[in-house]
Amino acid sequence: MSVRTVQRKLAPGRFITLEGGEGVGKSTQIARLKDRLEAEGVAVLTTREPGGSPGAEAMRHVLLSGFAKPMGPAAEAMLFAAARLDHLDTKIRPALAAGQWVLCDRFADSTRVYQGALGQVDMALLLSLEGLVVAETRPDLTLILDIDAQKGLARAAARRGSAQTDRFEAENLTAHIAMREAFLAIAREEPARCAIIDADQTLDDVHEAIWRTVRMRLLSGPDGPRPPSAPDAAQPETPQTPPARRRRKVTRTMA
Ligand SMILES: Nc1ncnc2c1ncn2[C@@H]1O[C@H](COP(=O)(O)OP(=O)(O)OP(=O)(O)O)[C@@H](O)[C@H]1O
Ligand SMILES: [Mg+2]
Repeated sequence: MSVRTVQRKLAPGRFITLEGGEGVGKSTQIARLKDRLEAEGVAVLTTREPGGSPGAEAMRHVLLSGFAKPMGPAAEAMLFAAARLDHLDTKIRPALAAGQWVLCDRFADSTRVYQGALGQVDMALLLSLEGLVVAETRPDLTLILDIDAQKGLARAAARRGSAQTDRFEAENLTAHIAMREAFLAIAREEPARCAIIDADQTLDDVHEAIWRTVRMRLLSGPDGPRPPSAPDAAQPETPQTPPARRRRKVTRTMA
């Protein structure tokens, strides 16, 4: 067994989230990143939000059925938070603790954008819920896939089989521009965690841009590619690389 393999076995997993608007290519790219990491010998778990675990899926049904709507947007936000807590507790945290890299299709930034920036929920409430639920399991890296709103809408229309952007989507252009801006604002506020990926390229080029970022931020070191917090890593852990494996008991009081 090589030193590199031993290091990988001992190193904790890394948590990567993919964010961005509809049809930007998150699900496509997450599958390709998984394949690339596995080819490097990294154990990978892919998951998605909303949902991702049996408890969170059940909560999702409650939310999508409209049952919770009369309770108001703040209560709905708390149900979303409870779903995320279950997803973290039952799936994401155990995988990270076991050394797997977790790739999650949408996570807390989507809540900030859809419920906060575009929705009716007070951002202060969302951020305090995020602080309690996500706690120290912050993503090590968030890839924000970015594309011009009009091109993103056209891509979504093409996926459905209609060549033109339909009327509903045209009416939504303003919302898509606001959504794009909200994701970019998060990237500006948290540059150590977030990387903007130009999604207006071929599938292969987007993948290569993602891979370069993952290598640079999470795999590269002075002696070449290696997990950054392997036991012999030179630098101590810093606030920029929060250890995803630690948990705060306080999260249990959330739901
Ligand atoms: N770089 C690209 N160039 C051309 N087409 C692409 C590209 N990336 C993705 N697509 C196509 O765009 C459509 C949407 O991609 P995908 O489902 O991966 O997006 P998504 O971000 O997961 O969307 P959603 O938010 O709706 O889940 C798919 O048909 C996919 O094949
Ligand atoms: Mg998708």
